[in-house]
Amino acid sequence: MTDMHYLNYEEQHIDPVFDFTACRKVLDKNGRDESKIIAVLQGIQQHYRYLPREVFPYISNEMEISEAKIYGIATFYENFSLEPKGKYVIKVCDGTACHVRKSIPILNRLRAELGLTGEDITTGDMLFTVETVSCLGACSLSPVVMVGDEVYAAMTPDKAAELIQTLRQNELRATIRE
Ligand code: FES
Repeated sequence: MTDMHYLNYEEQHIDPVFDFTACRKVLDKNGRDESKIIAVLQGIQQHYRYLPREVFPYISNEMEISEAKIYGIATFYENFSLEPKGKYVIKVCDGTACHVRKSIPILNRLRAELGLTGEDITTGDMLFTVETVSCLGACSLSPVVMVGDEVYAAMTPDKAAELIQTLRQNELRATIRE
């Protein structure tokens, strides 16, 4: 006889007391029709900055869509992330125009400034995530880095280091104000 082993919450890394308030609000705003699934996932990701695994069974139940299908959508679109991201997501464009104008030294400098090594893309304090993206549609400004909606043009490794300092200072000011 096969010895079945069902994963418990801890083994699945699922938080048994996860707060679904934000998910409910997103569903109430967008509706529960299957055609709204992308908008719902976008809204949830906007709130958590990624798609926590806890939300999949919840959405599945609320929208009557299989979890497998929702996972399929979440993994198909590269804008969705199943991993937690930092408060500041720094996108380094490595499209052709930016690449030939030396985007990689910028990426390396950002990673060095933030102490990111190996496969890590997010700092331990969950403040910064650094990732590469293909063309951001601003080739004439290359090499380009984007943080949130802000585009930083004609970047250099030194400017990238200054950008980190500025973001850290802004963060410090915001913390002092709270
Ligand atoms: S290649 Fe970087 S903006 Fe187009």
